[in-house]
Amino acid sequence: MFKHLSVFVAALVMGSGFTLAAQQHQSGEAAYLQRCAPCHINTVSGEGGGDERAPTLEAIGFMSRERVRTALTSGSMRTHTEGLEPQTFKELMLFLVPDDSP
Ligand code: HEC
Repeated sequence: MFKHLSVFVAALVMGSGFTLAAQQHQSGEAAYLQRCAPCHINTVSGEGGGDERAPTLEAIGFMSRERVRTALTSGSMRTHTEGLEPQTFKELMLFLVPDDSP
């Protein structure tokens, strides 16, 4: 009985380890809410918007992908994307400027 219990506990501990690893990956939307929304308002949902000079999420969606990418990698917004893993950066780009936009 106790033997089984310790196997169970070990599985739980390992399980929580996996959960932690999974949480390190952030979706593009989560990264946006954490890093960008404090300044950029989403005028549809009303989230964020601390800086009235910052274009709204919708306005960013009308910019070209290249313009947004440049702002985030070498332009005025580059400090806000520091430390993002490449996959999250990709998802953030897709969240900002969806692929099917012209
Ligand atoms: C501290 C406030 C602040 C944060 C945080 C912030 N921004 Fe900005 N952002 C601004 C302001 C103000 C402007 C307008 C002036 C400028 O372009 O520098 C701007 C402009 C932009 C532009 C337009 C650039 C252009 O070419 O006109 C984009 C795109 C953008 N931000 C994306 C983001 C993204 C994505 C994040 C999160 C990773 C982010 N910003 C985080 C304040 C912020």
